Amino acid sequence: MSNIEQTLSIIKPDAVERNLANEIKEMFKNNGFSILKEKKIQIEKSEAENFYKVHETKPFYNDLCAYLSSGPIVVMVLEKDNAVFGNRELMGATNPNDAEEGTIRKKYGISIDKNSVHGSDSVENAKKEIDFFFKD
Ligand code: CMP
Repeated sequence: MSNIEQTLSIIKPDAVERNLANEIKEMFKNNGFSILKEKKIQIEKSEAENFYKVHETKPFYNDLCAYLSSGPIVVMVLEKDNAVFGNRELMGATNPNDAEEGTIRKKYGISIDKNSVHGSDSVENAKKEIDFFFKD
């Protein structure tokens, strides 16, 4: 049975800055994702703090929020069968050093912070994250 889902993807500042957004979008499309919505924006640090609120107590929270708001990002709604898990597989491990060959983070990631992409980690969070960026 099919299980069409939507998930939120962010191409982070390190990748946008290196003009990798189109290549990364091609990787999504070649792996069967449809890009339903897309926008290039720069967010305020306070917005990044809201977006990453689940990480509020982590030691890396401040740097993470400063980083996500440091330059333009591309946010997208991706859709396909089992999109949440499929996107996490295609992104690879959070730390590019641990990511498998063929994944986005292995190919483009620079460090655990500059890991080129973000993807929702559950269907529930995907709904929240899509609303966060695309609520009219
Ligand atoms: P992302 O998938 O965007 O979700 C939270 C981000 O925190 C993660 O990618 C990493 O870029 C960043 N981060 C920085 N340090 C850590 C860490 N020690 N563990 C997990 N994530 C980290």
